[in-house]
Amino acid sequence: MNTNDMPKVELHLHFEGAAPPAFIRGLAREKNIDISGIFTEDGGYAYRDFWHFLEVYEAATSVLQTPMDFHRLTLAVLEESAASGVIYTETFLSPDFCGGRDLGAWKEYLHAIQEAAAIAEKRDGIILRGIITPIRHFGPNKARETALCAAETAGDFITGFGLAGDEKKGKPKDFAYAFDMAREAGLRLTCHAGEWGGPESVRDAINDLGVERIGHGVRAIEDLALVDEIAEKGIVLECCPGSNIWLGLYPSWRKHPIAELHRRGVKVTISTDDPPFFHTTMVREHDRLAEAFDWDEAEFRKIHVTAANAAFCDEATRAHILKQLEA
Ligand code: ADE
Ligand code: ZN
Repeated sequence: MNTNDMPKVELHLHFEGAAPPAFIRGLAREKNIDISGIFTEDGGYAYRDFWHFLEVYEAATSVLQTPMDFHRLTLAVLEESAASGVIYTETFLSPDFCGGRDLGAWKEYLHAIQEAAAIAEKRDGIILRGIITPIRHFGPNKARETALCAAETAGDFITGFGLAGDEKKGKPKDFAYAFDMAREAGLRLTCHAGEWGGPESVRDAINDLGVERIGHGVRAIEDLALVDEIAEKGIVLECCPGSNIWLGLYPSWRKHPIAELHRRGVKVTISTDDPPFFHTTMVREHDRLAEAFDWDEAEFRKIHVTAANAAFCDEATRAHILKQLEA
């Protein structure tokens, strides 16, 4: 099976985490910033584990200093995604890394990202939408400032609100105020949970934040009553198997719970998380899943229809991507 040309819908992509290392190195050189310590000898990102990954990630963002940097990043990221057959992608955008949560600055960064996204859509046919995402380990107060940026820019492009970062820091309920602000602004909600935290972390995100999707969520498999509840409620899991395997959460593709969750009626979807950090692409995710679980083109199509139906976009955009998936 050639998974290259298969149209794909990606719901879970960290924007800075999708930055090719050569792009970040190039910006560092232009700006005379020494971040050589975050790269391996062969030019990839160097980190020891998830927590060190978060540090390296933040160091990489230190070279992204202007709206124009984000304009260039947008073109680079969408070119990579389109090359993997992605027709629609949602990306986590953090005002923390775009002018330090200052609303005026954030609007300028957002404008630059949207301008570049329009160019990429014309060039490659790929559609981008943004999910504003505070960083959990920066704490609930900063998340409120981020939620204000989200509420003030919610619309056709900024359609969602999420939470990323160190799942072991704080509880979902600490972020309830920020999520309430986002909900009241009409944003749709997702939250990273069940990656480094267990099933209780997933349950708390559902009960305390009222999210309709969960970033990862795979450790729900450790509590089958929770799996049934997720399936019954129709909560969608943004699974990123390559990321989980690279970071050592599961020892192999065959041991990843995505297939078991799918079999138990949970709405699973497929994403890359931070592709260059985890040495993956959407094509690679599909190839490895096909090998591990014998999934064929029809199975992948069903999963992408699930993703399209769970996308945080307007109905005209959804109809457009569903039509492409049917073609
Ligand atoms: N930020 C970037 N990638 C992440 C991940 N996999 N989990 C939590 N926060 C992240
Ligand atoms: Zn993620």
